[in-house]
Amino acid sequence: MKEEIQQLRTQFEADIAAATDGRDVEALRIKYLGRNGLVTALSRNMKHVAPQDRPVIGKMINELNTLVRDAIQARKDDEGETQQEAGIDLTLPGRTPRVGRRHPLTQIRDEIKQIFLRLGFAVADGPEVETDFNNFEALNIPKLHPARNMQDTLYISEELVLRTHTSPVQIRTMLKQKPPVRIIAPGRVYRRDTPDASHSPFFHQIEGLLVDEGISMGDLKAILSVFTKEMFGADTKVRFRPSYFPFTEPSAEMDMWWESDKGGRWLELLGCGMVNPKVLENVGIDPQRYSGWAFGGGIDRMAILKYGINDIRLFFDNDLRFLEQF
Ligand code: PHE
Repeated sequence: MKEEIQQLRTQFEADIAAATDGRDVEALRIKYLGRNGLVTALSRNMKHVAPQDRPVIGKMINELNTLVRDAIQARKDDEGETQQEAGIDLTLPGRTPRVGRRHPLTQIRDEIKQIFLRLGFAVADGPEVETDFNNFEALNIPKLHPARNMQDTLYISEELVLRTHTSPVQIRTMLKQKPPVRIIAPGRVYRRDTPDASHSPFFHQIEGLLVDEGISMGDLKAILSVFTKEMFGADTKVRFRPSYFPFTEPSAEMDMWWESDKGGRWLELLGCGMVNPKVLENVGIDPQRYSGWAFGGGIDRMAILKYGINDIRLFFDNDLRFLEQF
């Protein structure tokens, strides 16, 4: 009998060491202490033990009983603590993780980028706080020039502005890279505007610039037509209208024919033109040898058209009910 008790103890110690979770421990409790458990059976067998041996055997069985009970309880306490420490409430229903997605403006920007990357353009960028020189002067918009009124500027200081367009990236790029230059520059721009459905004090533009020998307005039209068709569908119609920008000469605006339930109409999509020779001179590129074109258009505007959105503020409210639709 003594050996039997000893053996059972060894067996239990191996079992509890091998138990990995609460379910294993509970199975051990039933195996050893349950109604038909191994330790329970030992106590029941006491009646077969010779009376003079009973005190010793009885004590051994009690000790084993206590040892098994305490060991099992200790393991159960541990389990409970780790679950509580981890903040696990096993009665809660399961949670499905929410899958994130890119902001609709980021999606449109990436789509535009992909189109131009395929056409051999590189991506350039510049800071949102710009010098007066890069944002205006070098782009042939001197101080007091009436064109400064076209862009309600937010000034940081006499010499620093929140860039009013992505065109200063043209200057930055041409100051450090000589032709051929083929870049696009998407980014955030700022203007002093009161927010409403179609205005926001900040929005996003994409700039394009190509400078090389023998570049003409025809190249500009070709690239922009390809871009619009890729972006809005193969049967998209565009037209170029004469316009004015100090940094391009001649200048144009490109409109796109847009059909809606209210009928079709021309919508202005971007400004463009041949880089003004004065701008090339300002960055040290010889206008006798090189010519180029540039364009700049609103990314938010393209997203509004593409998705049929009626309020630009939706892009900046961060309302998940809106954002999750993209
Ligand atoms: N920078 C102009 C704007 O913000 C757009 C433009 C860019 C026009 C490049 C011509 C060439 O409206």
